[in-house]
Amino acid sequence: MTETTRSQSTDAFVRVCSLDELPTVGAAAADINGRIVALVRTETGDVHAVDDTCSHANVSLSEGELDGCTLECWLHGSRFDIRTGIPSGPPATVPIAVHTVKIEGDDVYVALNQKD
Ligand code: FES
Repeated sequence: MTETTRSQSTDAFVRVCSLDELPTVGAAAADINGRIVALVRTETGDVHAVDDTCSHANVSLSEGELDGCTLECWLHGSRFDIRTGIPSGPPATVPIAVHTVKIEGDDVYVALNQKD
């Protein structure tokens, strides 16, 4: 079992998909209890979950480009660290929420961070 743990308040884990439903490297959007989350698998195989909506405007970050642990918004080019949710530069200035991911076997679980 591989687990990515972050020091955030979370609710129970929800099974979202299997690993083979994710791109080998890249992002895919998922609806988790009505919240749209970008599931992102990096070149190292780690899976991260962040809110899919850019904090600058209402567009989907999972449609952007992944570069290492950075997801670039396709509309204006702000780049978000998928480990922290923090944008590296304008126009976005507000972090996006980061959620906790747990992998069990081939199943991807996410615990939503309800603080953000
Ligand atoms: S909408 Fe994402 S940076 Fe503007």
